[in-house]
Amino acid sequence: MPCSARCWQSILVAAVCTLLAKADCPEDCPARCPGQLEVQSAFVRSQFDLSKFWGVYYEIAYHDSTQPRRWPIKASCQRSVKAPHPADPKNYKDLFSLNVGPGRGINAVCDLEFNITDQPGVFLGHWSGHSFFNPNLTDIANTVVDVGVAANGTYNWTLEFQCKNDNDPARGIRFAAVNFYHKNPLISEEDGLPW
Ligand SMILES: *[C@@H]1O[C@H](CO)[C@@H](O)[C@H](O)[C@H]1NC(C)=O
Ligand SMILES: *[C@@H]1O[C@H](CO)[C@@H](O)[C@H](O)[C@H]1NC(C)=O
Ligand SMILES: *[C@@H]1O[C@H](CO)[C@@H](O)[C@H](O)[C@H]1NC(C)=O
Ligand SMILES: *[C@@H]1O[C@H](CO)[C@@H](O)[C@H](O)[C@H]1NC(C)=O
Repeated sequence: MPCSARCWQSILVAAVCTLLAKADCPEDCPARCPGQLEVQSAFVRSQFDLSKFWGVYYEIAYHDSTQPRRWPIKASCQRSVKAPHPADPKNYKDLFSLNVGPGRGINAVCDLEFNITDQPGVFLGHWSGHSFFNPNLTDIANTVVDVGVAANGTYNWTLEFQCKNDNDPARGIRFAAVNFYHKNPLISEEDGLPW
């Protein structure tokens, strides 16, 4: 059956939002995902405040097999819009968007939801639905590792770590990603980054 432009777009979006790379960490990796509290800064572990987290962020740097830079996906211009869930105080939303595809590409929007836990900065993320490319990659631990605190107390950058173990312990970690987001799309050394 011929696929319209809109149909291709939905296939591409479904693929991008759920794409999987096998052997995400080929060597020197732990056998299983670290505990979420173990990877957090002392500040985040004790003082992370969700109300200071909301807003629009740009993904400045990442290791993430769901966002391949190579053709034909050519992921770029990643943006993360973090907001409270309109109907559920135990969840928050991340409308994550990026440009993907050959040529000028298209804008793909991934509607991500995260369960809020009692631990500051410790979340369980959800990809919406299953996909042919990537069955079962639906629940992923998402941890805020560290944040930059602006003068008014809101966060101007956030470093997040996502990890999912394989159901089969012998196969180790199934997915691991590191995402660095900043409120500014362009940042300079004066922005006081941690490196
Ligand atoms: C976690 O979030 C998902 C949606 O993303 C929702 O279906 C589920 O009920 C949430 N779990 C809890 C315990 O709130
Ligand atoms: C997905 O989950 C089903 C049921 O738990 C399991 O049989 C299947 O092997 C899983 N597939 C992958 C790729 O993990
Ligand atoms: C952003 O956060 C850093 C802390 O890493 C801080 O030094 C800097 O002044 C902040 N920048 C702005 C514009 O608030
Ligand atoms: C806090 O400061 C940042 C930049 O320093 C600004 O973009 C943001 O709008 C401020 N937020 C509030 C609630 O004042």
